[in-house]
Amino acid sequence: MIDGRVFVTRRVDDEALRLLKADFVEVDVWEHERPPAPDELRRRAAGCLALVTMLTERVDAALLDAARSVRVVANVATGYDNFDVEAARARGVRLSNTPNVLEETTADLALALLLASARRIVETAEAARNGRWGPWDPRGWLGVDAHGATLGIVGMGKIGGAVARRARGFDMRVRYTSRQRHGDAERETGASFVPTLEELLREADFVSLHVPLTVDTRNLMDKAAFAAMKPSATLINTSRGGVVDQDALLDAVRRGHIRGAALDVTTPEPLPPEHPLFREPRVLITPHIGSATETTRRRMAVMAVRNVIAACAGRHMPSEIA
Ligand code: DGY
Repeated sequence: MIDGRVFVTRRVDDEALRLLKADFVEVDVWEHERPPAPDELRRRAAGCLALVTMLTERVDAALLDAARSVRVVANVATGYDNFDVEAARARGVRLSNTPNVLEETTADLALALLLASARRIVETAEAARNGRWGPWDPRGWLGVDAHGATLGIVGMGKIGGAVARRARGFDMRVRYTSRQRHGDAERETGASFVPTLEELLREADFVSLHVPLTVDTRNLMDKAAFAAMKPSATLINTSRGGVVDQDALLDAVRRGHIRGAALDVTTPEPLPPEHPLFREPRVLITPHIGSATETTRRRMAVMAVRNVIAACAGRHMPSEIA
């Protein structure tokens, strides 16, 4: 038994909580629907040995200084832009994330968004439900084809690769740009490398973002990037909202510089319902559901918990952030 308290910042899968309770003397779970506010988080973290956090919690110097007993923080997410890694390192706090369990699920969603926006699935389903289904019209509800189109993948990590594999099944031509070439992904998916983002944007009919949010990728899709895209092209974002300059996106959609966008991530989250992007018929927005299947969310929670248990027992963490 680990003699200490762990604070879990949201109710996660029961199996993960059972594992924690079997190993920790005390397990404190935030049972509310909304995440704890920063001051509440600091209060609950004080005196804990470990934290299991979501991407909604900012883990920074202020938190770690208010909770000096914390030795390990495990994120229930692959992305960890909510962590100040330097602040944790300086305080000897170990960090982990949940890679290799959500890539396929997130790639499924990226393809679903691509197809939904190409064929206007949500817009037309709403029209049918709301009595706007008129007689069959040879010019009605026209979308664009996914098959035969060029998909531009930005960031060829595991999710980018999984998207490329799926796109091949839809007979798409797959191009990608990344900091380095990925020979294995090229062989496996038939994707071909494009050295610059600008070149990729000029060619692609669909652009799908799969980069982490860092100082280098913040607002990667800015005014110049949208200007480089084809007017018939669609942006798909299942990475982080901060990778896209939303004002530039709104402007590009309104002016018809791009065809539209399908976003699973925004800034902020939740995006307020009065946000102008919600009024654009060619913008489809889902509430950050990339990894939201029962199986995947269970795997993520269990992995985070295994990281915490391993670290507190002085063992190697399965997915420590270096
Ligand atoms: C992640 O793991 O970073 C995802 O955004 C969570 O769905």
